Amino acid sequence: MAIMGNDKTVIDLLNELIELEYEAIEAYEAAVGRVEESRDRARIQGFLGEHLRQVRELCALVRQLGGEPASASDLKQMLKRGKVVIVGLFGDRPVLEAMKVNEAESERLHERIAARPGLPDAVRLVLRKHLATEHRHHDWIVDRLDAGAGLLRL
Ligand SMILES: [Fe+2]
Repeated sequence: MAIMGNDKTVIDLLNELIELEYEAIEAYEAAVGRVEESRDRARIQGFLGEHLRQVRELCALVRQLGGEPASASDLKQMLKRGKVVIVGLFGDRPVLEAMKVNEAESERLHERIAARPGLPDAVRLVLRKHLATEHRHHDWIVDRLDAGAGLLRL
């Protein structure tokens, strides 16, 4: 069945988010292996789980619209910025700083897409929910940095 024009646009936008989610998942996987403070690592592991759930929900929306979700292997051609940055870092604080940048980028993209006119209600609902999750992730990282996470204590 041919995909209607608006649906094609929505599918492309959702696939943009899916690719960002795969980037986030790679970055979180790298971060989980690097953050030493166990409570922070546990929290990051929880965020990783939320990103895995989000990507599943986005893929389901794409399929409902008759599209083909972007796959993690589509990313192989891309730069994988988040992961590359985090793999090169040493210490909890730089990892948290890099994650803060990733989350801020994710918030911006969710905000931009969720505000577009003509989105199906089901899509807008999911995007708003994911945006709230991204705000929560970003706020937690900012709070940890403000509290001095990863700073050397003498
Ligand atoms: Fe996030």
